[in-house]
Amino acid sequence: MIVIKTIAEMRQLRKDAAGSVGFVPTMGFLHEGHISLVKRAKKENAVVVVSIFVNPAQFGPREDFKKYPRDIKRDLALLEPLTDIVFMPSTDEMYPKNYSSWVEVQDITEELEGAARPGHFRGVSTIVNKLFNIVEPTKAYFGQKDAQQVAVIKKMVRDLNMNLQVVACPTVREKDGLAMSSRNTYLTSEQRRAAPVLYKALMLAKELAAQGEKDAGVLRHEMTELIEKESLADIEYISVADNETLKEIHRMKLPALVSMAVKFGKTRLIDNIVLNR
Ligand code: PAJ
Repeated sequence: MIVIKTIAEMRQLRKDAAGSVGFVPTMGFLHEGHISLVKRAKKENAVVVVSIFVNPAQFGPREDFKKYPRDIKRDLALLEPLTDIVFMPSTDEMYPKNYSSWVEVQDITEELEGAARPGHFRGVSTIVNKLFNIVEPTKAYFGQKDAQQVAVIKKMVRDLNMNLQVVACPTVREKDGLAMSSRNTYLTSEQRRAAPVLYKALMLAKELAAQGEKDAGVLRHEMTELIEKESLADIEYISVADNETLKEIHRMKLPALVSMAVKFGKTRLIDNIVLNR
């Protein structure tokens, strides 16, 4: 495994790579969710590249950029058996002085996480576009955990005619259903015990839809009631949306994206499932 920090080195290694290149962009503090993407990339490609870069451009002014968890030593040990190249540029390498170009995907960035975190997806699409230009992957791997992020990246790749395939991978969960996330480390033990209520609410929505509930508002209402019973949980949004447009639906229409953002103290967790036909 080669660990590099400059764009020039990454470009040189890309030139030398024989066969398909699988790429997994991350912000580090890796867990089994990230590792599942790396394993999938290894299975499907000759060369595996993982980037670790905590991208300041996708954090709002009141968000956790400065205290986002970091543990490079541990990350590299986890990647060692699975990865050929780790690209971990500095902030200056990616955003030098006078940097001024941004990628903006419209419409689907206005809902859900985009509505709750203004500018977030502009930061994500810009950094992912830059990383794609540097790594030139054959396939890039993203987690369904961040459902809207995958949708935005797929749209960007299609709209801007980027020459690569975006692969969406299933959400990896803890035994009690909590979706793995670097941010779970912020939870106190009490909050951690309460957090699986998100998954329970998603399962409730799934069950209601399976029973033939046609009113999406009933799903939102039942999920809200369940989560509100958990006193440590503070709902930011609960959504039942069209899986393509990400707009809220009234009558159930499948496939639908059921998603939520819920705060436990200062820690903001997101989760989702897609209800299919
Ligand atoms: P990060 O949060 O580090 O996540 C990196 C990748 O891992 C994303 O594609 C994310 O969806 C995936 N992932 C996270 N938790 C997962 C889980 N429990 N199961 C499956 N996959 C999971 O997402 C980002 O970084 C950034 O926005 C990035 C794309 C790197 C751009 O800066």
